[in-house]
Amino acid sequence: LHIVVLMGGWANERSVSLMSGNGIADALEERGHTVTRIDMDRQVAARIVEAAPDVVFNALHGVPGEDGTVQGMLDLMGIPYTHSGLATSVIAIDKELTKQALVPAGIPMPGGRIVRSEDLYEGDPLPRPYVLKPVNEGSSVGVAIVTDESNYGKPIQRDAVGPWQQFDSLLAEPFIKGRELTTAVIDSENGPRALTVTELVPKSGFYDFEAKYTDGMTDHICPADIPDNIMALCLDYAVGAHKVLGCKGTSRTDFRWDDEQGEQGLFILETNTQPGMTPLSLVPEQAKYCGMDYGDLVEAIVAEALR
Ligand code: DAL
Ligand code: MG
Repeated sequence: LHIVVLMGGWANERSVSLMSGNGIADALEERGHTVTRIDMDRQVAARIVEAAPDVVFNALHGVPGEDGTVQGMLDLMGIPYTHSGLATSVIAIDKELTKQALVPAGIPMPGGRIVRSEDLYEGDPLPRPYVLKPVNEGSSVGVAIVTDESNYGKPIQRDAVGPWQQFDSLLAEPFIKGRELTTAVIDSENGPRALTVTELVPKSGFYDFEAKYTDGMTDHICPADIPDNIMALCLDYAVGAHKVLGCKGTSRTDFRWDDEQGEQGLFILETNTQPGMTPLSLVPEQAKYCGMDYGDLVEAIVAEALR
């Protein structure tokens, strides 16, 4: 096949996407496909027309590669592409819209409220400890855990609000103490299948951008050492989220689990429609655990795009 691998772009996760995209492109070439690597810019539509691929492998993360914009462009062009389509991407990139879809379906997510960065001048939007995050970013870009020890002052001081001004909309959620878990889902002819559960244990702080992409900064326990009922519930919720949101190809659902609360303490934080494919990424790691190497995984995602 002739495959365009779309990567990079101008998202905050540009560097992550370049790692994902180049890994994917190398694997596709090793398997004998003809690959055109495209670092996305404003001329991307013309460059794809010129390349005339059989399929586009979307290796973009964040906005506008994961939020429906690129999906809509490819729909208009009539070119098949990997991963989720337009409507799913619009909903899943937005953690608040995701809640509106999943919670009524019986899939628990933390409560919370939408705030604008100016609102933070008025004081804490929730009782501490809480988590403040952009509603539509990935890789923990812009995420802060506000605790009693945080030196934001009460109300949050003007200089501390600065970093959040670049984001239109923020989500404040109660902090869920306990453990960080994640589950990958892969589509196949027999429908979506959850792979396993990985627990992420950062050596210090939380699982932020640095802990995600610096080798050795986070232990990945795969499969997670958790009770069978929690493992089963994670697999169940991840497949449920994949189905309710209408994900395609692959998705990865991230959880917090307050282990003192048992099943009631398990919450989905989000479902990623363009999960990372870097050497430290979690979907390839879980696929490997299930006997599927990186090249097999990439081939399976392409096969889904053409099915
Ligand atoms: N947003 C990053 C790429 C992930 O979900 O893996
Ligand atoms: Mg994410």
